[in-house]
Amino acid sequence: MDVRGDFIIVGSGIAGLRAAVELAPAGDIIVITKADPSESNTEYAQGGIAAAIAADDSAALHAADTITAGDGLCDEQAVRVLADEGPRYTLELLEWGARFDRDDRGRPALASEGAHSVRRVLHASDATGREIGRVLWERASSATRIRVLKNTLAIGVVIEDGKCAGVRFIDESGASGHAFGHTTLLATGGGGQVFRETTNPTIATGDGVALAYRAGARIADMEFVQFHPTVLNADNSPRFLLSEALRGEGARLVNASGKAFMLDYHPMADLAPRDVVARSIIREASRTEGPVFLSLRHLDVEQVRRRFPMIAATVARAGFDLAHDPIPVGPAAHYFMGGVETDLEGRTSVCGLFAAGEVACTRVHGANRLASNSLLEGLVFGARAGRAMTGPLRDADLPPPVLGDAASGASIRPGRMMSEGEIRDLMWTSVGLFRERRSLQDAADRLQEQQAALDGNLARDAPLDHKGWRRSSMVTVAALTATAALRREESRGGHFRTDFPARDDLNWKIHISDVMHPR
Ligand code: FAD
Ligand code: SIN
Repeated sequence: MDVRGDFIIVGSGIAGLRAAVELAPAGDIIVITKADPSESNTEYAQGGIAAAIAADDSAALHAADTITAGDGLCDEQAVRVLADEGPRYTLELLEWGARFDRDDRGRPALASEGAHSVRRVLHASDATGREIGRVLWERASSATRIRVLKNTLAIGVVIEDGKCAGVRFIDESGASGHAFGHTTLLATGGGGQVFRETTNPTIATGDGVALAYRAGARIADMEFVQFHPTVLNADNSPRFLLSEALRGEGARLVNASGKAFMLDYHPMADLAPRDVVARSIIREASRTEGPVFLSLRHLDVEQVRRRFPMIAATVARAGFDLAHDPIPVGPAAHYFMGGVETDLEGRTSVCGLFAAGEVACTRVHGANRLASNSLLEGLVFGARAGRAMTGPLRDADLPPPVLGDAASGASIRPGRMMSEGEIRDLMWTSVGLFRERRSLQDAADRLQEQQAALDGNLARDAPLDHKGWRRSSMVTVAALTATAALRREESRGGHFRTDFPARDDLNWKIHISDVMHPR
């Protein structure tokens, strides 16, 4: 079945929904979403949304913290947009009815998180994303011109006369169709599922990056993956995120002897940048040959339970008392700084195709994202993309690509298809927190072989079902990530090479795009 609207939005997280709200007065919108409409990374966001609204804060200070976290690779204009426009879009959520926590004077309560120099994180207890999603859904669905196609998977970008005319999809019955529109937004979120250990839900397979890549759009900064330090690491329990806001309220990382160790690794201790904390946990675990825990037992019990009810209930199901027990933790893949390259209005390098939110790479986060800047990115850049989608069409004016050399040079002989589990294991062991040439080379070679096999199948129009498309996105995202990580011979932000442990501004203060080209 084919459908036609003025605007097509793929994805119903914060970026897609905020764009929909912006577009509602301008025409008919079709939102395509691969699962239940609420299923997204947004739904699980815990800590909150950063915005410089406090008296002791300013957009300039928020921008400075963002740039420091980005480790030399943030686009400063993008950062200014995020920090300057953040308060307006965040306060708008309050006007629309967002139930954020308040302080005793009725103002939005502000939390502290890693690498922020002041308290600036607005939150709805420990389930902020769900509350923002609720408000945006209410706002978007009060506009009668929005049609939602749920359980519908976008599988290809339609290009007509050199411009994007919409997407191909498979609907919930398995039937294929097209959604045609004047402009199309990819708001498909991140790809944490390509790693064995991840905070991301199963929908997060990086589909938008794979769709854009096959359409010939520019993809950048894929080597920069953020690993969240504190994920529940207990046998037989899902890898559940333990928000950085816990450390913001005083929780401490301790080793098996109960010693708080973060000060041994960084002067900001438990609130050091995420990549530092994540690697320190692995180093401490290896040094002590034991587990690492998050401890809240020195904090006020009632306050812990009041502030973090959802986290307390979830760890209780795994057999832990958040206020009293040391909780075993370890890092997991959390967020992709790279993605589909866009300008500050969400335009990609393909005319008529836009991207916003985690799938996009505006370069706002540089090499590492500041905590709670992602929900803000979805709001600010989702709204900006929505506005631009109604305007005249042109492709993004992006700086020239810095090409990858695809690195391996291996002759591509498609071998056996790797299973999803094998891809995830390979990414975790070879393209995870600690990277080095040999294992990166092996991973890039194997994944490029998989990509070649995939390209062959797609060229033959071999039919794929939902599962086949899921694996196909994972192969592309994994191959792009491993290849870019192999190419960057330095350490910066989320990308750490044991064979090149220092930051190297002389050679690598660049963004790598187009590491592979669609064959
Ligand atoms: P998402 O919210 O992930 O939405 C993507 C949408 O696209 C989904 O609806 C999905 O179903 C759909 N989709 C994907 N592929 C397809 C396809 N092929 N066809 C159709 N539909 C498709 N950030 C913060 O700033 N603060 C936090 O406190 C915070 N906490 C987090 C906690 C967790 C556990 C996680 C996983 C992330 C957290 N983040 C946080 C990161 C943040 O939640 C995400 O980066 C952000 O929500 C991404 O929003 P998005 O709109 O870009 O994508
Ligand atoms: C968290 O609550 O720790 C996640 C925040 C984020 O990803 O910004």
